[in-house]
Amino acid sequence: MSFVHLDTTLEALKGKDCLTLTDFTSEQIEALVELAVRLKKQQKAGVQNISLQGKVLALWFDKASTRTRISFSVGMAQLGGHFLELPTQSLQYGRGESLEDTARTLSGYVDGIMIRTFSQELVEELAKYATVPVINGLTDLFHPCQTLADLQTLYEHKGDLNKLHVAYVGDGNNVVHSLMHGAAAVGMKLTVSTPKGYEPLSKVWDEAMAIAKETGAEIQFDHDPKKAVKGADAIYTDVWASMGQEDEKEKRSKDFAGYQVNEELLQLAKSDAIFMHCLPAYRGLEVSAGVLDGPQSVVFPQAETRLHAQKALLLSLLG
Ligand code: CP
Ligand code: NVA
Repeated sequence: MSFVHLDTTLEALKGKDCLTLTDFTSEQIEALVELAVRLKKQQKAGVQNISLQGKVLALWFDKASTRTRISFSVGMAQLGGHFLELPTQSLQYGRGESLEDTARTLSGYVDGIMIRTFSQELVEELAKYATVPVINGLTDLFHPCQTLADLQTLYEHKGDLNKLHVAYVGDGNNVVHSLMHGAAAVGMKLTVSTPKGYEPLSKVWDEAMAIAKETGAEIQFDHDPKKAVKGADAIYTDVWASMGQEDEKEKRSKDFAGYQVNEELLQLAKSDAIFMHCLPAYRGLEVSAGVLDGPQSVVFPQAETRLHAQKALLLSLLG
């Protein structure tokens, strides 16, 4: 993908929700990444952009978060706006007020709602009743904001996205579901490798394949991680037990044996391949300490891109 100025493409996003990346066209996803790259350069050059002056974003958390919480909060502050943290237990919703009434009430106060919760249906329900944009900050099914930052990271480290091969090794979870949508949208090659029983959902697979048909992306699957990473420009992994799956940690550690991204696996990718992880990471489980802390790892620059990617999204939806 080569970047051109696509600002008119993003104008169409004003007032829209971001519930899953399928809410956006390929052109809009590429334009969001391009805008995030520009915003990052501006920020580094000390240029202030206060386009969201006077706007308020509600941050509704039902699960823990470091990167999502901080990137959205700092992003709003840098854009001249404000943010408001709403842990579920602090809301009357936590005591039984309806989602519909909560959505309508919030819409009278704030300009956008970012929510991190368990159920994708709840986020969709919230968006149905809210009259301001709703942003999915992670559900059990999707993590679209992470993928926007990941595409930016790949572009900044490796160049044109439609020339890249990314291998995802690990659990077929929310992170890879959104990565499949994103990779398909930008015409990338993505090989997913999971143990049996932990594959991505077939519904998401079908959605990604349908997008890939239009863009020329190759979305593939291989149970063998060694075959999956062969010749890859990037290897990506995520935790084996996501939030809400704490009880399965032990069983999953056994089931995922052989799927750790370690020095041996990394060697099978291109010699200049990068290692990516959305974080938080667990050294010795899904990734060896040597790889996570090694020279090919871009996990902290990747975490930083969340800030710029989220600012691009906020400017487009709330601006
Ligand atoms: N990657 C990510 O979403 O991190 P947090 O859970 O810390 O927000
Ligand atoms: N798959 C992980 C991602 C955390 C950012 C989880 O849902 O816990």
